[in-house]
Amino acid sequence: MSSTPFLSVRDLRVHFSTEDGMVKAVDGLSFDVAHGRTLGIVGESGSGKSVTNLAILGLHNAEHTKIDGEILLDGQDLLTSTERELERLRGNKMAMIFQDALASLSPYHTIGRQIGETYRKHTGASKREARARAVEMLNKVGIPQPDLRVDDYPHQFSGGMRQRAMIAMALVCNPELLIADEPTTALDVTVQAQIMDLLKELQQETGTSIIFITHDLGVIADIADDVLVMYGGKCVERGSKKEVLSNPQHPYTWGLLGSMPSLEGSVDVPLNPIPGTPPSLLNPPTGCRFHPRCAFTREVGGATCSTDEPILRLLKGRGAACHLTTEQRDRLAPGLTAVVEGHGAAAQPH
Ligand SMILES: Nc1ncnc2c1ncn2[C@@H]1O[C@H](COP(=O)(O)OP(=O)(O)OP(=O)(O)O)[C@@H](O)[C@H]1O
Ligand SMILES: [Mg+2]
Repeated sequence: MSSTPFLSVRDLRVHFSTEDGMVKAVDGLSFDVAHGRTLGIVGESGSGKSVTNLAILGLHNAEHTKIDGEILLDGQDLLTSTERELERLRGNKMAMIFQDALASLSPYHTIGRQIGETYRKHTGASKREARARAVEMLNKVGIPQPDLRVDDYPHQFSGGMRQRAMIAMALVCNPELLIADEPTTALDVTVQAQIMDLLKELQQETGTSIIFITHDLGVIADIADDVLVMYGGKCVERGSKKEVLSNPQHPYTWGLLGSMPSLEGSVDVPLNPIPGTPPSLLNPPTGCRFHPRCAFTREVGGATCSTDEPILRLLKGRGAACHLTTEQRDRLAPGLTAVVEGHGAAAQPH
């Protein structure tokens, strides 16, 4: 394993020009993903998770989008790559699984053809070889009777099977980076667990690096090695899964963990949702973007939180962008019962 990260994102900015003004969807985001590791990106709706990952894949409409910064994949800067070069990488070296498999698969072609076409495009394989590869992939993702189901159309598959088919399609060329954008949100809990196990197995087999986007810290606890918490287009906290879930440092992460339902309880009802609403990305709050919702600005004192932007300082990949001192955080961090290692292990209360 090389010591340089496989994916390195530096000071990424993705701004959209709209009739109302400039939407700063991602505003100075940096992170790394090492070979064979899984980075979980978590944050509320609208925090910029999908926009970030569409930028990595080069899928934004150039006309209304201004992208700055650096995205290095295995040393190649994706932001200065041509569309042709990106075409060659997508589906091959990097691939994505979307939330809604039905919307991502064509209803007009068989599952086998869709998996096979991606394979043919990047390998130049014959139709027969591509079909055999599609059967092999369907088998790998646990579709029963893959040699028969390969000729089915997407509507003949159940939701969980379609999601598996999309994973098969994403993995057909053994991508080195797999981006999974809420791939299990629409599925019931049992199928969700099966898909997560499948991704973990495939990762062990192939050493793929994974970016896993989710609202759900329970999912992060299950699959991630490292965690990036996003708020209003910025990273507010980063670290290993254990560090972030068992010793969170940012009030927003405290809020996320506090709003996480216990695994025994209903998964649909957050216990204590974070009060307030996500920030406007047209006119983001000054200072810390989280300050209008933060219960701890008084602790910091003065107007610091509303005037000074906190900087994310990392020590060995670990840190939080917040004006609270370490001593204050140790004192204020709420007792959390987050799940750190899969199901059951409670975090240390503070
Ligand atoms: N093409 C666009 N033009 C203008 N604004 C956009 C565009 N695409 C996304 N946005 C805005 O950028 C912000 C971030 O969107 P993004 O889709 O990344 O959120 P997300 O974190 O993935 O949320 P969710 O969890 O709901 O999927 C949102 O406010 C969204 O409205
Ligand atoms: Mg999204």
